[in-house]
Amino acid sequence: MKGDLEFEHVFQPAPHPSAPTLLLLHGTGGDEHDMVPLGRLMPGANLLSPRGQILENGMPRFFRRLAEGVFDVEDLKRRAGNLADFVIAAAAHYRLDSSRIIAMGFSNGANIASAVMLLRPGVLRGGVLLRAMVPLEPQPLPSITGTRVLISNGEIDPIVSTEETERLARLLQRAGADVEVHWQPAGHQLMPGDFAVAKAWLQSIR
Ligand code: MLT
Repeated sequence: MKGDLEFEHVFQPAPHPSAPTLLLLHGTGGDEHDMVPLGRLMPGANLLSPRGQILENGMPRFFRRLAEGVFDVEDLKRRAGNLADFVIAAAAHYRLDSSRIIAMGFSNGANIASAVMLLRPGVLRGGVLLRAMVPLEPQPLPSITGTRVLISNGEIDPIVSTEETERLARLLQRAGADVEVHWQPAGHQLMPGDFAVAKAWLQSIR
């Protein structure tokens, strides 16, 4: 549904209105339905899953890129702002606790999640970043102390190097976030180990 909210999205309400909300952000070529099954990793949470508004050769994304791993930073800034506004509007519309919104994004979805953390502090309490890269390096760095982040990346990812993962962790730490990094014996595809660490981490943040 879309309604008065700007993004096509799926919303699944939690049994208890005061529950946390998991903001599910798909990868390139996904849509608002893709990540919904991962809601099982945080039982009892509201699920909010928008579809990225960019189309790259027919594949939805959350922001434009110029090439693989080379981002259109001006577009990224605008789209991160639009997504942050959507999250705030959705929280008001669905009467969610806006202090308990936690992102879980894969690849392009992880990259827009960390961009929202860095560009719009306070909108997200934290997030699980699966196969994440450095989205941008804001100057000056914002203060996002209190934001909790789990990065779960692959040791042999052809798209995201281990140096890139370490650079992302350091960037978020320098901004004040509490960052945990888990390595999977994997490439860009998700593995059972990703779901296991995400589930345990989501349990600890609720
Ligand atoms: C992707 O395939 O989505 C990229 O690796 C990450 C991105 O473009 O944000």
